[in-house]
Amino acid sequence: MARDPDSKVVRPFAFFRAGVQSDPSAARRPILVFEDVYKYFRRDQPTLRGVNLTIERGEFAFVTGPSGAGKSTLLQLVYRKHTVDTGRILFCGKDVARLKPKSIPYLRRNLGIVFQDFKVVRHWTVYENVAVALEILAMPKRLVRSRVAEALERVGLAGRGSERTENLSGGEQQRVAVARAIVTEPALILADEPTGNLDPHLAIDILTLFEEINATGTTVLFATHDHSLIAKRDHRIIGIDEGRVVEARTGLRSWPGAEERAASDPASGLHAVAG
Ligand SMILES: Nc1ncnc2c1ncn2[C@@H]1O[C@H](COP(=O)(O)OP(=O)(O)OP(=O)(O)O)[C@@H](O)[C@H]1O
Ligand SMILES: [Mg+2]
Repeated sequence: MARDPDSKVVRPFAFFRAGVQSDPSAARRPILVFEDVYKYFRRDQPTLRGVNLTIERGEFAFVTGPSGAGKSTLLQLVYRKHTVDTGRILFCGKDVARLKPKSIPYLRRNLGIVFQDFKVVRHWTVYENVAVALEILAMPKRLVRSRVAEALERVGLAGRGSERTENLSGGEQQRVAVARAIVTEPALILADEPTGNLDPHLAIDILTLFEEINATGTTVLFATHDHSLIAKRDHRIIGIDEGRVVEARTGLRSWPGAEERAASDPASGLHAVAG
C-alpha cells in the first residue's frame, strides 16, 4: 500500500522529477549546470560573462563575491526571474531558458527560494505564510496541516503556527520563510543573502538550519558576501567577481591566510584559484 494515500496530489511535480523516476541514473547527474552563461542588463557590459558551473545533487555551496558581482543575478536566472542571453542553464537536465511560460510554475515548485528581507506577509499567521506554498497546489487541507506542522518543526517553530508573523523576531521570521521554502520538498534551495538582515549569532543559526536541510538531501546554494560566515565552515565556495566565476573548491579555512585577508579587507577574501 502506498505510504501516502494522497501521493497523486502531493507530487504534481512530474515535470522535473519524471527524469529521475523514468531514468534512475538521472539521480546521479548534476542538479544544476551553467554552460557558458552570459547575461546583459546593459549592452556594453555583461553582468555574467561566460559562467560555467556544475552543482551536484546534495551539495551545499556558498556563492560569494563583492556587491554588484552578479550573485543575485546568478540565482535569479535559475528561477527565471530573468532569462540568459547566451548559454544554457540546465536544472534537472531541463534548459530553464526554453521553458514556456506555462511551465515556469512547475520549475518554481521544485525550487525553494529564500531572500534577505524574508518576504513573509507580516499580518498573516505563521501557519498561513507557510501553507500558502501548498494551497496554490490545491493540496487537501488535512495534508496541508500536517506538512506545515512538519516544516515548522524542522525550522524550530513547532506550535507557533497561530502567531501573527509580525510579532516574531527577525530570526524567527526568516525561519518562517525557510519553512515556506522547504514545505514543498524542493530539490534545490536558492538562498540570496538569507542572513543579511540578521545579527551574527542569528546568522549562524540560520546557516545551521540550511545545513540541516542539506543533510536530508536537499541541494543548497547560499549567496552571501559575509566572509566571517563562510570562514566558519568548510563548504564549497563559488566566488563571483565582475560576472566571472572564480571558484574555490573547499572552504576558506583551507586557504592559508584567507581568514586574515578577509578580516583586513572583506572585499579581497577571494581571489582567482585558476585564471
Ligand atoms: N534587473 C536589473 N536591471 C538592470 N541591472 C541589473 C538588474 N539586476 C542586476 N543588475 C546589475 O547587475 C549587476 C549585478 O547585480 P547583482 O544584484 O546580481 O549583484 P550581487 O552580487 O547580488 O550584489 P549584492 O551583494 O549587492 O547583492 C549590478 O551591476 C546590477 O546593477
Ligand atoms: Mg545580491
